Amino acid sequence: MAMTWSTDLAVDVPEIDGHHKTLMAISNELELAHERGQGSTVLGSILCRLSDFANYHFALEEHHLRILKCPDYEAHRAEHDRLLQQLGNLVHAYECGDAHVTDDTLAFLRTWLVIHIQKYDRNSLSRTPAPLAA
Ligand SMILES: [Fe+2]
Ligand SMILES: [Fe+2]
Repeated sequence: MAMTWSTDLAVDVPEIDGHHKTLMAISNELELAHERGQGSTVLGSILCRLSDFANYHFALEEHHLRILKCPDYEAHRAEHDRLLQQLGNLVHAYECGDAHVTDDTLAFLRTWLVIHIQKYDRNSLSRTPAPLAA
């Protein structure tokens, strides 16, 4: 199921909202390639792009968080590191010819992106943060 960006994911920083749209677009591209039965060269290359863009995005976002002196900076950065680790493992597995994108991989990426934006990015960066879950 493809992800679509909506205003309830907005963080009020246009550049970062643009990055989130790009992350979703690359994830959707990965899902479509998986559904079409594309080979490991194509899937590995999309995963590599996703990992590179996530690295770039997190660096910019962490820069904003430091400027804003966000109290949850360390926890937020740890979540970024967790995703980068997962993506790095997947890219490495593809490079070794030893990986397959699965439905679980795609579900993990979808959930991680949406929950992370709502729980961490909006609360740290938006003027109208999402309510914290009980
Ligand atoms: Fe974030
Ligand atoms: Fe983000």
